[in-house]
Amino acid sequence: MDRLIIEGPNRLNGSVPISGSKNASLPVLAATILAGTEHHIQNVPALADIDTLFEIYAALGITVIRQGQEVTINTKDIASVEATYEMVRKMRASVLVLGPLLARFGRARVSLPGGCAIGARPIDLHLKGLEALGATIVLEHGYVDATAPSGGLIGGRVVFDMPSVGATENIMMAATLAQGTTIIENAAREPEIVELAEALNNMGARVSGAGTSEMRIEGVDCLNALIHRVGPDRIEAGTFIAAASMTGGDVMLRGVRPDYMDAVLQAYRDIGAEFEFESSQVADNNRLADLRVKGPARLKARDLRTAPYPGFPTDMQAQFLACMTMADGISHIEETIFENRFMHTLELKRMGADISMHGNMAVVKGQEVLSGAPVMATDLRASASLIVAALAAQGRSEVLRIYHLDRGYVCIERKLSELGARVWREKQ
Ligand code: UD1
Repeated sequence: MDRLIIEGPNRLNGSVPISGSKNASLPVLAATILAGTEHHIQNVPALADIDTLFEIYAALGITVIRQGQEVTINTKDIASVEATYEMVRKMRASVLVLGPLLARFGRARVSLPGGCAIGARPIDLHLKGLEALGATIVLEHGYVDATAPSGGLIGGRVVFDMPSVGATENIMMAATLAQGTTIIENAAREPEIVELAEALNNMGARVSGAGTSEMRIEGVDCLNALIHRVGPDRIEAGTFIAAASMTGGDVMLRGVRPDYMDAVLQAYRDIGAEFEFESSQVADNNRLADLRVKGPARLKARDLRTAPYPGFPTDMQAQFLACMTMADGISHIEETIFENRFMHTLELKRMGADISMHGNMAVVKGQEVLSGAPVMATDLRASASLIVAALAAQGRSEVLRIYHLDRGYVCIERKLSELGARVWREKQ
């Protein structure tokens, strides 16, 4: 297993390109199952999670040709509608193939994903939503066996108890080919939902209300090829904001969507980071900007509460908490989305952080210095927080189990090196 070595402290300086969004790519790639033809998707990041989805595709009989960031997918000759446990256990988002397979073939068999390091993460909302479209769901031997009525799924009213990103995406995709109209109430409003709706509408779907809590999908008989460019990764961008802020750096993020990052930008402004929009460009109708972030000599403490979009994203909580470990003052960090998303605090404490846990709240007393230490990555964003802390800590840190990081960050050590950090990967 590879490890990342970081010798701190580092002050990040320079510019960094932001890759395509992992969380937008996965549902957009899943949507290609809905139409049996050849699809072209650009700006798909080279990440382990994307490779996991392509392993599932290979088993389903879908051909994938990747040339750099460009992917050509042929979904014409799908030979199986089953995603096995071996595939799904590697990545929870594999469950996104359920809705599209069911909508197109009338049947799908997908392994239950099980829990993960950050919480139980059930898929009950996905299943209830599909049942509301007429599907029969049988849970047997650890698998979801879903069958549509003989004439196909039927539009219906889906009311979520809580806004779930994945469940909203699965139901949106399934409803595009259902007979009649589907209404999703309490839908997730994340930018990835808006991007998926744009992609589906480009295929000929009739999806409206994406980005609001109530969505409407009018079913169509068939969909066409998808040609799409994936938008920038707001969580990768936010992680570089954390790293620049924490190290008193001056970093230009190239090609971001600042309009999707309001809560994050506000939180970092409040703790002393400064932002400038240096230039903007229009690429494939996506308004992209270059965002310059400057970190102060020392960050100020601030309280934080995660919430569904447009609130502060849970995927940025660990990195913000890392920043608070060296801030001036005490901060209270409350996690409201996942029940067990504080694994990074134990590792940060090994670097000298002062953190106490009170239920779903971490109380962080900022220190003048952190000291480098061997630390263990436990999940994707926890790993990112350890990198942020190690960049600012005195001395050598070793981040073990960085395969978690490779799930969601493209060439992180190369990007950080280009910003002047002393960081390298050791293969074991
Ligand atoms: C997606 C993101 C993930 C992010 C999360 C929340 C992808 C690939 N992943 O995950 O990075 O952290 O949104 O922004 O896009 N829940 C249920 N039942 C369900 C589904 C969800 O109880 O059927 C709960 C979850 O346990 C969690 C909450 O709903 O407490 C939100 O989860 P959800 O929005 O579904 O997260 P994911 O789509 O899995």
